[in-house]
Amino acid sequence: MTKPLRIGIAGLGTVGAGVVKILAARGEYLAAATGRRIEIAAVSARDSNKDRGIDLAGIRFERDPLALAAADDIDVVAEMIGGSEGVARDLVEAALKAGKHVVTANKALLAHHGAGLARLAEAKGVALNYEAAVAGGIPIVKTMREALAANEIRSIHGILNGTCNYILTEMETTGRDFADVLKDAQELGYAEADPSFDVGGIDAAHKLAILTSLAFGTEVDFGAVQIEGIEKISATDISFAREFGYKIRLLAIAEKLDSGIVQRVHPALVPEGTPLAAVSGVYNAVAVDGDRVGHMVLEGRGAGEGPTASAVISDIADIARGLVLAPFIVPADRLKKLVQPPVDTHKKAFYLRVRAMDRAGSMAAITQALAQASVSIERIVQRGDRQDGSGRLPVVFVTHETDEGTMARARAHLAEHEDVAGTPLVLRIEDGELR
Ligand code: NAP
Ligand code: HSE
Repeated sequence: MTKPLRIGIAGLGTVGAGVVKILAARGEYLAAATGRRIEIAAVSARDSNKDRGIDLAGIRFERDPLALAAADDIDVVAEMIGGSEGVARDLVEAALKAGKHVVTANKALLAHHGAGLARLAEAKGVALNYEAAVAGGIPIVKTMREALAANEIRSIHGILNGTCNYILTEMETTGRDFADVLKDAQELGYAEADPSFDVGGIDAAHKLAILTSLAFGTEVDFGAVQIEGIEKISATDISFAREFGYKIRLLAIAEKLDSGIVQRVHPALVPEGTPLAAVSGVYNAVAVDGDRVGHMVLEGRGAGEGPTASAVISDIADIARGLVLAPFIVPADRLKKLVQPPVDTHKKAFYLRVRAMDRAGSMAAITQALAQASVSIERIVQRGDRQDGSGRLPVVFVTHETDEGTMARARAHLAEHEDVAGTPLVLRIEDGELR
């Protein structure tokens, strides 16, 4: 057997501690499977005294994670601290410059600096592996990098944030409120250090930006993702959606159009009976449409200790086997700049919820306003029993196919309307591509 592969682990939280546990439990198997023993040479975290439920006896503790990048007895730096800047970025850059392989679970870092880091890795001939950064335990990066080479990818539709999916499905099945369920997700180790990254759609957008690069051979372009979170989704919306035959999910979509590549993250109505509507709890799913393979869907746990650490271990195992691939499939200098279409001209149906004055004639006034905005209505539902105590009633419209621009103008118009309170909620109905 060749000499051991020596790892330096930075970050011993949910993911880092999970990696230490798996290396302890499956050391023999991994040595046999990869042909090399995998040893932890050193670890780093903020607090050296914290009880983490892991055995670190005999392992060096570095107060400064950058010491891992400089150490002669480390071949691979595993970064599980998090954040697009600061110590995580400094560590990954220093490790790559020092010619060490890097494994990271840090989607924020890759979404903001992916192409630059890939250049550094390629210049040194080392791996920059990040399976855990996208969709937790689902091997989607490996699938894109290795298994789909025959395909021109047409689109990706993903549920990429476990926290949001957990919140939406718990609200759906138990009727519990948003804040209460978010607290659960934090306690279970699913949420980001700043949970507004989860519920605001930013975390899913980080992951989508990485997938887009892998799918379309473009530089990671997080700035080009249109982002809406789930903060405005209420139990009322979930229940109306159910009446119409839909589930509400936070979708992350990348599509190749003639005029460029669209990347968007937003809550949407997904038809019941489709694979993405069936994804519940902390599960994620990625539906890929390739010209040869057709539609395929991968599903699995998207967050938490076990699934995420499992993905980190698969990256370490690849390095132990000697597998070093270009981080974004093609060499970084051959990645193209992403071109965004000037406007998304896709037409789709929309779900529109307004809080309307509970008075005679208000419905007629609102439907007239929609007609003036050129939005044609397929269905209207008003429920007197759902009055919110302020003299307003939720009224829901399902529109015929309309383009994004028209719908945005209609929403702005209704927000000013005297019969409407607040800004109406508009959700896309993602029907066609998902069936
Ligand atoms: P976490 O539980 O908050 O752990 C972060 C770890 O980093 C802690 O051990 C902390 O030390 C350490 N740390 C923070 N600042 C440090 C510094 N300046 N120097 C040294 N160590 C420092 O986070 P996590 O959930 O494991 O997430 C880690 C990474 O994995 C993030 O990039 C996250 O986005 C990504 N990720 C997480 C999940 C998940 O389900 N949790 C899934 C996929 C990807 P102390 O413990 O001493 O405070
Ligand atoms: N906060 C992330 C989520 C962790 O909830 O999906 C996994 O990347």
